Amino acid sequence: MSESKDVLSEEVIRSLLKNDNETVVLSEIDSTNEEIKRRVRDEKKKDFVIISDMQTGGKGRRGRGFFSPAGTGIYMSILFCPDDKNASDLILVTTAAAVAVAHAIGEVCGKDAKIKWVNDVYLNDRKICGILTESVNDPETGRIKYVICGIGINVKKPKEIPDDIKDIIGYIYDDTNDINASRNEIAAAVINQLQLYYDRLPDRSFLKEYKERSMVIGKSISFGSPAKIAGVPDDDWEKAKAVDIDDEGGLVVECLDGSVRTLHTGEITLRLDS
Ligand code: BTN
Repeated sequence: MSESKDVLSEEVIRSLLKNDNETVVLSEIDSTNEEIKRRVRDEKKKDFVIISDMQTGGKGRRGRGFFSPAGTGIYMSILFCPDDKNASDLILVTTAAAVAVAHAIGEVCGKDAKIKWVNDVYLNDRKICGILTESVNDPETGRIKYVICGIGINVKKPKEIPDDIKDIIGYIYDDTNDINASRNEIAAAVINQLQLYYDRLPDRSFLKEYKERSMVIGKSISFGSPAKIAGVPDDDWEKAKAVDIDDEGGLVVECLDGSVRTLHTGEITLRLDS
């Protein structure tokens, strides 16, 4: 596919969507998650998607940034207004999004993406997608008012990659000759798939595919709290075998002493051991 054909387009993406979610494509923004929050506050939006060709302040988990150069990725945020959903279902939006991205890449690009618990999508052992889900509570009821699911997908290899991530991140297409789908097609497929899983959050049906795509289940792992392990020796990581994903998206592990624990997102850094 030529570069000129791979321009993100509101019109093309909307024509590929199965619902009539309002979709806006921007050429540049600080962060699509932040832009959704601003628009939801000012314009009372519902069912809204923002996609940007680049981000100047892309946000990752744990206060990190997310490398978001122009012309090579998809940076998008999807707004859900979960009037009819419980908090216990909404905690699975990130999990559902990881499956949606991996599924869409299979469907549109014909590539078998894997998921590293909890929400990173990998191809050929390199991270090609990160997901940052944020929620806003209604101050009066305390219930979740909005969920903003931010998804960053590395589609093509940019010319320059920062040194600190160049050995970690990958791309759907490493080789430009290999490109068989546009960013518009990939973005629309992810939105369609995530909407489907979102509607079915209570029945957890997407967890079956999550487990099939897991690059962690059945593997030896090490885990630790991010604060504890920062810069400390290997011995301080706890070793275990990953055995399952539970209905809340927790990772069930069997520790060396035979005890079984469930790890929850946010409190754990996980490493795959060979
Ligand atoms: C991570 O891997 O740490 C999560 C990265 C999430 C990046 C996406 S890109 C679109 C959306 N806007 C942001 O600022 N972040 C998310």
